[in-house]
Amino acid sequence: MGHDALTPAQDQTLTPLALPWEPKALRRRNHILLLEGITVVFDGFLALNNLNLALREGELRCVIGPNGAGKTTMMDVITGNIRPTRGEAWYRDDVNLLEADEVAINLAGLSRKFQKPSVFESLTVAQNLELALKARKSVFSTLFARLSGEEADFLGQTLELVNLAERKNQLAGSLSHGQKQWLEIGVLLAQKPKLLLLDEPVAGLTVKEIDRTSELLLSLEGRHSLIVVEHDMSFVRSIARKVTVLRQGSVLAEGTMDEISCHPGVVEAYLGGEAC
Ligand SMILES: Nc1ncnc2c1ncn2[C@@H]1O[C@H](COP(=O)(O)OP(=O)(O)O)[C@@H](O)[C@H]1O
Ligand SMILES: [Mg+2]
Repeated sequence: MGHDALTPAQDQTLTPLALPWEPKALRRRNHILLLEGITVVFDGFLALNNLNLALREGELRCVIGPNGAGKTTMMDVITGNIRPTRGEAWYRDDVNLLEADEVAINLAGLSRKFQKPSVFESLTVAQNLELALKARKSVFSTLFARLSGEEADFLGQTLELVNLAERKNQLAGSLSHGQKQWLEIGVLLAQKPKLLLLDEPVAGLTVKEIDRTSELLLSLEGRHSLIVVEHDMSFVRSIARKVTVLRQGSVLAEGTMDEISCHPGVVEAYLGGEAC
């Protein structure tokens, strides 16, 4: 993206907002996700360096940062794909993310969407959602087994939510890139997650699709906790509550869009020099 490297003059690290002092157990109870002092080293390279992140239940958090800042590695730690060399990571107060395996983490209510949509292209939109609903129940049933009334209602609501009700009988393979992204968000929602991690959900979407995605994510806030990693700053601005800026594996700044916009390193690296 051309803004990876900060010159030494811009390298004025803002101290991340300190977590309020609370006993550990209480801090875990008060957050759906808590990362403390997470360090990940790849062949001597610090991909994450003493990273702290605290997310409240129902919060929508945007995470931005130049390429290589550690955003994807942070998600890999949260989902149990990468084990850090140091630090602590808790989901609620009962799931130690550094010990639980990926499946257990997912079953505990944490779902992740990777950048590339991965839906079953040869199934219809509705069938993709049905499969996700059935997978959650872990029941061996064919695709054509009937859904319960409750499940059918949920499927209908999810189709509306992700803007695909009118396309429910269309093959997923025939959807636009943006519609596939929405379908995948719908598939995640069918897992009834508490915490959703979304990696660049608007990459490659049209302006109209981006606007619709903003509405969708805002409508999930409160019912779900969300971490949205995204490069598109106008999109981030449209959904931003608290924003965390990563750089070189650490938190460079954290706060509202207005607050982070005033940080010189953030202005230079991310906001194209736009003054706050
Ligand atoms: N498996 C890996 N082995 C070695 N280095 C890696 C690996 N994964 C990521 N990195 C490096 O760690 C840094 C952080 O990467 P990443 O988390 O993908 O950043 P972001 O998602 O913010 O662009 C980058 O410098 C990247 O090259
Ligand atoms: Mg990444």
